[in-house]
This record gives sequence, structure tokens and C-alpha cells, in this order.
Amino acid sequence: MRVLLTGGAGYIGSHTAVQLVGAGHEVEIVDNFCNSKPEAIRRIESITNAAVPVHEIDLRDRVGVRDLIAGGDYAAVVHFAALKAVGESVERPLETYDHNMSVTFSLLAAMEAHGPRTLVFSSSATVYGDQAPLPFHEDHRPLDSGSPYGQAKIMTERLLTDMAAADPQWRIAVLRYFNPVGAHPSGLIGEDPKGDPSNLVPFIAQVAVGRRDKLLIFGDDYDTKDGTGERDYLHVDDIAAGHLAALEVIVEDDPRMRTWNLGRGAGTSVFEMVHAFERACGREIPFEIVERRPGDVAVMWADPSRAKAELGWVAQRSLDEMCADAWRWQSQNPDGYATT
Ligand code: NAD
Ligand code: WQD
Repeated sequence: MRVLLTGGAGYIGSHTAVQLVGAGHEVEIVDNFCNSKPEAIRRIESITNAAVPVHEIDLRDRVGVRDLIAGGDYAAVVHFAALKAVGESVERPLETYDHNMSVTFSLLAAMEAHGPRTLVFSSSATVYGDQAPLPFHEDHRPLDSGSPYGQAKIMTERLLTDMAAADPQWRIAVLRYFNPVGAHPSGLIGEDPKGDPSNLVPFIAQVAVGRRDKLLIFGDDYDTKDGTGERDYLHVDDIAAGHLAALEVIVEDDPRMRTWNLGRGAGTSVFEMVHAFERACGREIPFEIVERRPGDVAVMWADPSRAKAELGWVAQRSLDEMCADAWRWQSQNPDGYATT
């Protein structure tokens, strides 16, 4: 089927594009490259040996998005496009709410007017906040995420719920990702954060490749297996496979909105990730223990049982595979996609 990926030039979108094309779907991307590079598209085409048309549009441009959707004859849309920097969302809430809600309003208005009514939405485990009982289950009602970024995800999930209730034609999959890491095994596409990486694994990778002197570990006094924070890391290609599975299920299912966690169902500590990355790169990762990062929770991991039961999806790739693939990408692209 013809699928439009909003934000498809980004980290998760690019990996999803590869898997959708590989599964025989016809993929187009709309992206304004505010947090990605056109080189990523060329790499996707190189991996898939297929043309992936790109529409360089700002999704806040309602007329541009309406014309794209009206003329696109898409069977489904996967909505990745957003500003994802949590810390920046706390510093500049209006920018995050305006940006992430505007792109969504624009897309949904165009889909409501012209179709399709089949959507996969990139949500986040951050919607669970820090009050949910572990492991996080989809039935836990997201209330307060602790950041404007997370609140915008909660607001979008609520909007989608209300739209599905008002118009029973909608087929909506909400995917709550935990912590995506790693890269396509070719090393051609991967995570290419702008500026200082806020996430653990890209920061470790930049230390390993010599772009950073050392890793700062935000606290080792948590009530966890070794005092450092525990997260549910999973390979970005497992995340991509989850999108393929969700699309193929909802297009055959009765129209409704459904939500799935994408996680491995296990917690990995910062020290465990550091040691796994040292095994992958064959180098020591220097670090310094510093104060806790405001807003961090001690432990987060998913109950992934619903995705297994309803999508037949289970995260396949190990921690060592995540680190080996992340290292291959970083070592082959020390400055990311900076070639363009
Ligand atoms: P990313 O920043 O790599 O990709 C987002 C893409 O959207 C970029 O290519 C960017 O240029 C594009 N974009 C943003 N605003 C746009 C606009 N106004 N018009 C057109 N294009 C626009 O992020 P990612 O890591 O691939 O995340 C994809 C989605 O998954 C996001 O919605 C994010 O909130 C969500 N998510 C990410 C993580 C993670 O850890 N990476 C975890 C949970 C959820
Ligand atoms: C993981 C662990 C840190 C960096 C974030 C967003 C979430 C989602 C995924 C968008 C924590 C520790 C980190 C560093 C460290 N993104 N750490 N030093 O915070 O679980 O989730 O990314 O949806 O919304 O909140 O991921 O990689 O930032 O942190 O010690 O330089 O690594 O304290 O324990 P997080 P992370």
C-alpha cells in the first residue's frame, strides 16, 4: 500500500521507511529537514535500492499539507514529525506545544477532509509519567508526563481518541516507544542528534568515536540494581518492525483506535549500557558521576505483552546488537550525515 511518513527523514522514520519498502509497500516522505538531512533519503534509497519520493514541506503549512494529502492517494500515514527534545520543551514550552500540536492539527485536518483515515502515531513512554506502576501497561491512563513534550503527546492521544469516537471510519494505532537505540546494520543510517546529544547512547557513541571526552552519568544513588537509572532500551529496527506490524494489523481490523507499547520488557542500567558499548567498540568509555538530571525517574520499562498478543511483535535484537549497530553507524559516520 502507499504510505506517507511524516518526519520520515528522521531517526525512527528512516528505519521504518527501509522496513516498509522491504515489505513491498510504496513509501513517500514529507519532511522539512529541521532535524535531519536530505542525505538520509539517499541512504534509505541505497539500502532499499528503491526510489523514495520526498516532499519538502513544513507540516505547519496547512495548505501545503492539504494539497499533499488530497493529491497523494495514500492508504495510510505514519506520523513521526515532531520536536523531540524533552529538555528544550521545558525551557521553551510554547515552541514545543505550538510545533507538535500544529503539525498534528494540520495533518489530521487534511486527512479528515481528504482521507485516508488510517494513521500510526509516534507516542512515547513518557506519557506514563513517574506515577505509573511498573511495568507500564497501556491501560494505565496517562495523566501527567512532567514535560511539555510529553504533555503534547498526551494531548495528541486524547485528540485521536475523540476523533475516533466522532468518526468511526478512523483506524488509529498509537505506538508508545520506550528507548530506541542502535542503527540499521549497514551503518548507512542512524541517530544523528543536532548539538549535544541529550540521550545516553548517542552520547556514549560520541565519546567512543572521540567527539566527547567523557560521559557524565546523572546519578548513581537511585534505588536500582547498581544505583544508575534503568530504562527499556530496544533496537530502532525493532521499533520499525513494530510500525510494519501495526499498519498491517489495523488496515485489516475493524476501524478503531488501539494503543501498543514498544519495549523489550526489561530494564538496563546506565553502567550496563556503558559496559555493553565498551564490548562493541573495544574501547573504554571514560565517565564521571554527577548530580541527578531533573525530571529523571529511576526505572522505566514496558509490559510488551499486548503487542505480542495482538501484533505478533516482540523485540528481537539484544543489547549487544544495539551497541554493535550503533557503533558501526557512529564509527562509519563520525559526524553523522554532515556530508551534506
Ligand atoms: P527525529 O527528530 O530524528 O525525526 C523527526 C523528523 O521530523 C525530522 O526529520 C524532522 O526534520 C521532522 N520534522 C519535525 N518537525 C517538522 C515539521 N514541522 N515539518 C516537517 N518535518 C518535521 O526524531 P525521532 O527520534 O525519529 O522521533 C520520531 C518520533 O518518535 C517523534 O514524534 C518522537 O517524539 C517520537 N519518539 C522518539 C523517541 C526517541 O527516543 N527517539 C522516543 C519516543 C517517541
Ligand atoms: C537514559 C538514562 C539518564 C544521558 C528520553 C525522553 C523520552 C524519549 C526517550 C522521546 C537515564 C542517563 C543520559 C547522559 C546519563 N524521547 N543518562 N547521561 O530520559 O529515559 O528518555 O529519551 O520521546 O521522552 O525522556 O533517555 O537516554 O536521556 O536517559 O546518565 O548523558 O541515561 O539519567 O537514566 P530517557 P536518556
